[in-house]
Amino acid sequence: MNFPITRLRRMRRNATLRRMVRETTVSVDDLIMPLFVRPGSGIKNEIKSMPGNFQWSPDTLEEEARELEGLGVPAIILFGIPDHKDAVGSQAYAADAVVCRTIERVKKACPSLCVITDVCLCEYTDHGHCGFVANNRDGNPDVDNDRTLELLVKESLAHARAGADMVAPSDMMDGRISEIRVALDDEGFDDLPIMAYSAKFASAFYGPFRDAAESPPQFGDRSSYQMDPANLHEAMREIELDVEEGADIVMVKPALPYLDVIRWAADTYDLPIAAYNVSGEFSMLKAAAMNGWIDEKRAAMESLLSIKRAGAKLILTYWAKDMAKWLA
Ligand code: PBG
Repeated sequence: MNFPITRLRRMRRNATLRRMVRETTVSVDDLIMPLFVRPGSGIKNEIKSMPGNFQWSPDTLEEEARELEGLGVPAIILFGIPDHKDAVGSQAYAADAVVCRTIERVKKACPSLCVITDVCLCEYTDHGHCGFVANNRDGNPDVDNDRTLELLVKESLAHARAGADMVAPSDMMDGRISEIRVALDDEGFDDLPIMAYSAKFASAFYGPFRDAAESPPQFGDRSSYQMDPANLHEAMREIELDVEEGADIVMVKPALPYLDVIRWAADTYDLPIAAYNVSGEFSMLKAAAMNGWIDEKRAAMESLLSIKRAGAKLILTYWAKDMAKWLA
């Protein structure tokens, strides 16, 4: 007796048919490349914890943006690293802020590249927290939600005036989406979309990023404003608030440890869902690949495919450039 081939296996035996019945694909159009920029010129500093990623200056970043555009990567998201940090993160919203100068250059050089900006204060504050810090009722320093909103509004407006195509608040303060929306509308930027980092968890997987952006908190951690990794229902409430406040795209972050959150969000909301395949997710595989323990290309493609399968339409990933080459 022959071993029986089931109907499901029969479908897998033909490579063309396998391709035809594939339920999920990753396209270069799904990808957003994160880039770090600092003041200066001619800078291309490799980030130790994220091999193949660099801190750029506006001129070298412009070259990189041209290359990404040429490869078909549709979008970048910019993170600024200022020369000077202070308690209120003034370099986040100064007219000559490094992110603003970079937006202007990139938009001129690559008009079809979608330039998104991360709106947050942690890269710009000397204490490394995502907002304005004051003593709370117990006399302990903590992020003051409402005073932070003013600063986030200023930062969003600075990015909009410089020509950003979309702003992406990642601070996790309550009420920031509606404040930013109203301020943008008042200045005539009613056509500028907001991608909200809605369900952002207080995660160990941001470790390599804090090295890249030189932004680790100098005291405490971010668990008073970022989410507890244990909470799925709360993630849905966070997303719901951002949707009500006017977010155009909602994001789940990190991606791989939170595929259940992505799936539930995709089933619930009729908006594009973005997912951030964060620095730790990238660096783990990169380190294993550099040791010869894992096939980087296969593992990266499988990761991004899984994020799409879970329901994300857009993926922020440090593999965006490599993927554009791999998919070409
Ligand atoms: C800023 C911000 C962070 C990341 C994106 N925006 C760091 C943090 O919240 O600590 C992390 C991205 C990554 O790890 O790749 N708040």
